Amino acid sequence: MTTSTNPRPTSPLHPYAGRFPVHATMPETGVPRAEILDELRQMSSEEDAKGDSGRVSGSIYSGDHDHYHFLTEAFGYYAHSNVLQRDMYPSATKMESEIIAMTADMLHGDVSPDGDVGGLVTSGGTDSLVTAMLTYREWGRRAKGIERPHIIMPVTAHPAHDKGMHYFGIDVVKAPVTADFVVDVDFVREHIGPNTVALVGSAGTYPHGLIDPIPELGRLAIEHDLGLHVDGCLGGFIIPWAEDLGYPLPPFDLRVPGVTSISADTHKYGYALKGSSVLLFRPKALRRQQYLVVDGWPGGNYASPSMGGSRSGGLIAATWASMLNLGKAGYRAIAADIFRTAVEIKAAVRSHPELTLIGDSLFNVAFRATPAPDGTGRDAIDIYHVNDALADRGWRMNALQLPPALHFCVTRPNTQPGITEAFAHDLAEAVDYAKAPPTDMPRSGAVYGAGGRLPPAPDALRSTIADRLDSLHEVGPLD
Ligand SMILES: Cc1ncc(COP(=O)(O)O)c(C=O)c1O
Repeated sequence: MTTSTNPRPTSPLHPYAGRFPVHATMPETGVPRAEILDELRQMSSEEDAKGDSGRVSGSIYSGDHDHYHFLTEAFGYYAHSNVLQRDMYPSATKMESEIIAMTADMLHGDVSPDGDVGGLVTSGGTDSLVTAMLTYREWGRRAKGIERPHIIMPVTAHPAHDKGMHYFGIDVVKAPVTADFVVDVDFVREHIGPNTVALVGSAGTYPHGLIDPIPELGRLAIEHDLGLHVDGCLGGFIIPWAEDLGYPLPPFDLRVPGVTSISADTHKYGYALKGSSVLLFRPKALRRQQYLVVDGWPGGNYASPSMGGSRSGGLIAATWASMLNLGKAGYRAIAADIFRTAVEIKAAVRSHPELTLIGDSLFNVAFRATPAPDGTGRDAIDIYHVNDALADRGWRMNALQLPPALHFCVTRPNTQPGITEAFAHDLAEAVDYAKAPPTDMPRSGAVYGAGGRLPPAPDALRSTIADRLDSLHEVGPLD
């Protein structure tokens, strides 16, 4: 039997097992559209309730369903199109180049024919970062004859950089952070060697929302003739508005000499649909380093500008529509609400001596437990107990490690009235809970994109995580 309609015990990974049929093979005859849409409607509306509650850190950036309807309509006009065929879909060239130009303008780059900046629209932050890593490997080989390239990135930079280096055989050197949780530039300087092809900095970091000292990295990049990628996947569409709104902002974008590429995710604070990001290159010719041309193929000469092959124009249309419809004033207004909300969340954290803020991010508030005054180096409370109590009250924080900490990455749904007051109230209860927890071992730990306690040994950890990744792709037993 391959389709089960029996009520079955549910699990956190398969909560619908008892409610909807489980399909392990294609149905022999098609399921009516109304039935399919009804199932989708039920699942999505229940799942949206969590993000719409305003108690979730990051993940959902707009939360405005009217905006989503508009984007979905824009998507719909091109959902079926294959923008690889540009003779059929020249609108993709118009929209894609305008997305790149608008992003470059926001990040102070010039994509005009006389300008020195070029870009790509990719499928997301990971795609942008992996592509940037490939670019520097190719540039290192061609321009400098480096066969075994290495790239220096801060420990706080996103693991999608590691993914790219893993895929493309690049050695990675991880730079520690200073007491301020931004990259230790001295370490970077000391580790530049003959095989270094590029440096990485973030604006801002996923764990703490902080901006690495990009001008100092830029000086090193120029001095040693290296690439410098700025990962603005998270911060690239929110930090730029700080300057207009009067918040202090260290320079991080294409105004900084030495920055040779920067990524900014349209599907995060660009408020577009998931599946798009922008990667900008300076000089423009750097973009070509990762182009692939295969000639002599019986299918025709093949030229590809980026990772993807056939692509739907829907995401390009929706991204373009989001940027045009919000405009600078729209982005600025949402950013003002987000920065104000972050200020209020920081005030709530500061009101507890048991908690210490990590840095002072404009939008991504990270905090840890304050070290106990007894000099043992132990924390006064276990921050994961705080997380457990917040979770019991409906909050979905992101748990961090090294050091153990939490962050609340503020997005538009968190700016609703009453959210920061509710957070302050629940945080106070959570700190009390953590002072006298019912068990020593908290339920939560630091797994990116999930909760759950980690087993201690690295091998066990890897195998547990691999098991979980397997489970995400399996329907499970049918009966
Ligand atoms: C700083 C940073 N870079 C890259 C990424 C990866 O982006 P994506 O999940 O879109 O692949 C993230 C995701 O949160 C991020 O925070």
